[in-house]
Amino acid sequence: RVLPPHTFILFGATGDLARRKLFPALYSLFLDKRMPEQFAVVGVARKSYTADSFRQELRAAIEEFARDTVKADTWEDFAAHFSYCPVDVRKAEEFVKLNQHVEEVEQQFGLPQQRVFYLAMAPEFFGEVALHLYDSKLSQVSGWRRLIIEKPFGRDLASAEVLNSQLREVFEEEEIYRIDHYLGKEMVQNIEVLRFANSIFEPVWNNRSIANVQITSSETVGVEDRASYYDKAGALRDMVQNHMLQMVMMVAMEPPSRLKTEAIRDEKVKVLRSLRRFTSEDISEHVVRGQYAAGFDMKGNAAPGYRDEHGVDPASNTETFIAARLSIDNFRWAGVPFYIRTGKRMGAKATEIVIQFKDMPRMYFNTHGELLPNLLVIHVFPEEGISIQLNAKRPGTDGTVVPVSMEFSQEPDNSPEAYERLLYDGIMGDSTFFTRWDEVSLAWKFVDPIANAFRAGTPPISSYASGTFGPKEADKLVEEDGFRWWPVT
Ligand code: BG6
Repeated sequence: RVLPPHTFILFGATGDLARRKLFPALYSLFLDKRMPEQFAVVGVARKSYTADSFRQELRAAIEEFARDTVKADTWEDFAAHFSYCPVDVRKAEEFVKLNQHVEEVEQQFGLPQQRVFYLAMAPEFFGEVALHLYDSKLSQVSGWRRLIIEKPFGRDLASAEVLNSQLREVFEEEEIYRIDHYLGKEMVQNIEVLRFANSIFEPVWNNRSIANVQITSSETVGVEDRASYYDKAGALRDMVQNHMLQMVMMVAMEPPSRLKTEAIRDEKVKVLRSLRRFTSEDISEHVVRGQYAAGFDMKGNAAPGYRDEHGVDPASNTETFIAARLSIDNFRWAGVPFYIRTGKRMGAKATEIVIQFKDMPRMYFNTHGELLPNLLVIHVFPEEGISIQLNAKRPGTDGTVVPVSMEFSQEPDNSPEAYERLLYDGIMGDSTFFTRWDEVSLAWKFVDPIANAFRAGTPPISSYASGTFGPKEADKLVEEDGFRWWPVT
């Protein structure tokens, strides 16, 4: 379906996210003929670009990052929809100028007042920008309006509440689209289909059949040039509060009453409500935090330890790795550990969800060693697909049992980027794969006690060599329960 006519007002138009993700996504939507004939993109940032120089940047970004190459015959047509308005977002009066600019653009393209405000900028400005949108009347429209914002949504519950109330002074909850780009990933969206369109899974999707769930999101990069943000956030706020918990919710949620946005979100929220919160007494039993030490990167080049990275406090205790054993205290999941782990400078860039099924009550066959359990693996990245590990007879033998794998994979190159999907949904007005306020606040309620314990030095931070899968304590966490981490494939 083609998107409705709209004006896309992009704050942070000269930033990294715009270049790497948003421009390429808009271009792919355009080439896919999902952009309407009438649309306009207004780039907003502090730099003083002209429309022409902004379009040059646009083209350079698309040439570098888009999954499609620039098509000469339609480029001018695409680029003509883009304009630029320099704005210092701290100055209310500059929003009046922006309002005029937007009105002119709407006239030029014959657009109804259907506006999308996208804040791809430092989060400390979110609240202020929303208020300026209101004061300048930019947010007062005769049609519809939507606000799309990037993470992080606060740095704890208190700051998230302040931000939310600032936004809510101007926008309704239904108009706010909080991005969690993991929800835009093909295979994360596919969990729903896998679970609710295949009758073979639902009967076994519970504590009677499942032994544990393991969710890994490992990265090979270090802190890169984001130390000023990351050293204050750490893996807990950067990855667990949002992406990791979203994946937990997708796996653990009950079937919704209907496949409708609010019904789905209601079920996701219930998972967070059932998620057992850690206390300062028991946190060390369930949470491991780590920080990468010097080592080698994936190309074999020497790589500094986290504390020696540019911009990082040399005495920093910020975690670059976290592993945890989560418990979901409801009928379906009581007794099934959900292990999560995520970190920087690990042995592979991969995101995977492994569902491990319980062992057979009795074993008849000769396995020449260990009998492997059945695993259902959801490959989110770099592969996109699922695999199921079964046991079968080795052909031509006396009944020796060997593990075999059944795989379904789709070509990642063919599937749209997460941002493409999310931009499309956001402009269309479908908020299913965005986070609702109660999800965000409950996620902070779970994370805050962990952050407080970290601040107080609990559990102690362990170091791990770059290129590994985290400190040995993370292995112990799983081994204590008689399991092991299944290697990411
Ligand atoms: C972002 C984090 O939200 O997710 C980054 O801020 C992290 O630190 C990134 O690198 C990982 O996303 P992906 O899609 O590469 O797994």
